[in-house]
Amino acid sequence: MLAGKKILLIVTGGIAAYKTPDLVRRLKERGAAVRCLLTKSGEQFVTPLALGAVTGDRVYQDLFDLTDEQEMGHIQLSRDADVLLVAPATANVMAKMAAGISDDLATTALLATDKPVVIAPAMNVRMWQHAATQANLATLKARGVTVIGPEEGDMACGEFGPGRMTEPLDIVKALADFFSPARGNPGRAAGSPAGPLAGRHAIVTSGPTHEPIDPVRYIANRSSGKQGHAIAAALAALGARVTLVTGPVVLPDPAGVTVRHVESAADMLAACEAAMPADIAVCAAAVADWRVARSATSKLKKEAGGRPPALELAENADILARLSRPGPGRPALVVGFAAETEKVVANAEAKRLRKGCDWIVANDVSPATGTFGGDMNTVHLVTHEGVEDWPLQSKAQVAERLAGRIARHFPTGAGRTGKALDGGQAAE
Ligand code: CTP
Repeated sequence: MLAGKKILLIVTGGIAAYKTPDLVRRLKERGAAVRCLLTKSGEQFVTPLALGAVTGDRVYQDLFDLTDEQEMGHIQLSRDADVLLVAPATANVMAKMAAGISDDLATTALLATDKPVVIAPAMNVRMWQHAATQANLATLKARGVTVIGPEEGDMACGEFGPGRMTEPLDIVKALADFFSPARGNPGRAAGSPAGPLAGRHAIVTSGPTHEPIDPVRYIANRSSGKQGHAIAAALAALGARVTLVTGPVVLPDPAGVTVRHVESAADMLAACEAAMPADIAVCAAAVADWRVARSATSKLKKEAGGRPPALELAENADILARLSRPGPGRPALVVGFAAETEKVVANAEAKRLRKGCDWIVANDVSPATGTFGGDMNTVHLVTHEGVEDWPLQSKAQVAERLAGRIARHFPTGAGRTGKALDGGQAAE
């Protein structure tokens, strides 16, 4: 699977960098063409000479090397590859990638690329477990970055735990897997003909909605859109064609996904209906239940001594219930979310039946959990077969697991977008 693949290996500054000449050799044994980019701190652990000797090519190091800019600019360097592999990926480079910082050749290439990115993190266990690193990891995964490892074990710093870079042979295996057409892998462009969800169309709703009071004011909620965006990215990574319908969020659009930006619940419903037909619908948006019945067309003004305006509310259409309505156009699998603050599973089960969806992902959004706006989520998957309690995971992990379950729900083979597989309750 690696024969003929062009790999740009970015070596950053971790002790595991000393293993990269071996990694290059293993990749080349399998027919890959490897070009190396070495950061300043990476050079403390492996020499450009060693990497140059195994690649048989020059090693790229300096952003401001004019010769490079003439022969091979950083943009071209990052695009003239089938994949960018960052190994080892330090906490620092992950943070820079998450923040979009480009202050050296490695980070500039990573920001400029339009190719898939795979990272093999390596760092001290506490650095790995730090909330900042986990948040950066979730951000990167949500953007479609593939992560290999890290592994658990004794570390160079004397501690034990997750943080060791995956061994070169295992990285090679994971990368071969990444390019394997038989697997649902993100090595392909999203929505391409390989992957278990190839040929399927998924609609995902995400974020809050804004319900206008007047042209400058609105009713909203605290949803960040992180979970919905991560699900869209995870489904695309498994080959689905994804339409993400999102309310106002500060997140970037996930790569490889068609994004429809909307404001209100009415806009969201219209965008979902316009995106139909679909095989899969995942409603992760925190849609406002109510809108202002008659929003003002000009800004409401305070009148001296006057009363505050009374807002009359009207109920919004329930998008999940609409998409779940039985009929020939119904997506074969409709998944809702239940944001609950008490009796989480019982309320979710009732909600599943009330709305007519197949699965409900129930999560506890009481303030103590930090779920709203946070990066972690504890969920329960409620289907007609029962309830699964998933452990506390990042929203990216929840998304990957859910996408995997969705992929298993569908028989492999050609997609049937436009033809619902069945109109009834889904079974695992
Ligand atoms: N939902 C929707 N359209 C709405 C309201 C909710 O599509 N107008 C979807 C959400 O995207 C989610 C599910 O319905 O998948 C449940 O949302 P939640 O806020 O938990 O439930 P509500 O319907 O608002 O019920 P309640 O407020 O009574 O818990």
